[in-house]
Amino acid sequence: MLRSKIAGIGMYVPKNIVTNQDLTQYMDTSDEWIQERTGIKQRRYADRTGETTTTMGVEAAKIAIERAGITAQEIDFIVFATLSPDYYFPGCGVLVQRALKLKEIGALDIRNQCSGFVYALSVADQFIKTGMYKNILVIGSEKHSFGLDFSTRGRNVAVIFGDGAGAVVLQPTQDPNQGILSTHLHSDGESAEILAMYNPGTHANHWGNYAAFKEAPLGDQFMSHEMIDNAQNFPFMDGPAVFKKAVVKFPEVIQEALRANGYQPGDINLLIPHQANLRIAQFVQQQLKLSDQQVYNNIQQYGNTTAASVPIALCEAWEKGKIKKGDLVCLAAFGSGFTWASALLKW
Ligand code: COA
Repeated sequence: MLRSKIAGIGMYVPKNIVTNQDLTQYMDTSDEWIQERTGIKQRRYADRTGETTTTMGVEAAKIAIERAGITAQEIDFIVFATLSPDYYFPGCGVLVQRALKLKEIGALDIRNQCSGFVYALSVADQFIKTGMYKNILVIGSEKHSFGLDFSTRGRNVAVIFGDGAGAVVLQPTQDPNQGILSTHLHSDGESAEILAMYNPGTHANHWGNYAAFKEAPLGDQFMSHEMIDNAQNFPFMDGPAVFKKAVVKFPEVIQEALRANGYQPGDINLLIPHQANLRIAQFVQQQLKLSDQQVYNNIQQYGNTTAASVPIALCEAWEKGKIKKGDLVCLAAFGSGFTWASALLKW
């Protein structure tokens, strides 16, 4: 049976390190609060002279392509996951096609936030399994630092997120002991507004005031000075509500992947959870009775990089020799939407 395997993996994080202490110059927060609640010690921010979600994704992609032992010209499809694209449209996929001077191949953009990379991997997996493509470039990249509220008002969100990118090249394999065994995708739109960036958007709701919305000049309904004055251009998060749902859905979707393939938690060589919050990952570890060696976390160094967090963690774990050929690796993610997903693979 045809499966897809990760033939090459790469990551890129900006040079600029921002510590928790650094953030105290913008907002009322502390290293102690951030570490205790999230585990984060520092994150990276893109430089201000041209580093974008796409350029970071391209750097990660170049490494993945080289490690796959192919040339960029051999890539036959791009899947790009991000919530912080260079442009509202077009998506980053075409910008990667241009930057890497690829052939006129298809480029697909995925909007599933923290689950974005696992969703992207699943989409690419289907194209490989049907035989449609042979070298798919899958990228997760985020530049959060340009879209956060760095005042005390936005501190519950701003301290969590960081910038970076990860990428893989997926290829077909006939090896029964290698490749993606299954992927599992879920959503629950009931809680869409709990973790969201509402504007710019086409929702018919002028911050809950429909009368004002009706009166607003046509163009202003999308993005107005008033929205910016009211900080409505920043993401909103009900942190405790996200936490409560995440600690249920993470274990659920991991167990689903294991059950689908006849495995137990003890069989996992390495779990790569989306790096949302160290406390969430530790809770999941406890629930599944996994040892420290079975779970890889690096949120301490990079913060939550949303669609980039899983490929960055996977790449770093692999570079450190924590993943060997034949290992059972589980990727799991949960985030805005809500959406959650897992992928079980043999390395
Ligand atoms: N620094 C200092 N104080 C802060 C703060 C910060 N950066 N952010 C929030 N606070 C304050 C709040 O204002 C609140 O103060 P109050 O008690 O005086 O009202 C207090 O800390 C507690 O806030 P709360 O939101 O209840 O804290 P929490 O223990 O739930 O931790 C999160 C907040 C965001 C760290 C936590 O809810 C979380 O991680 N949730 C999941 C978020 C997540 O994973 N998001 C990504 C999705 S993939």
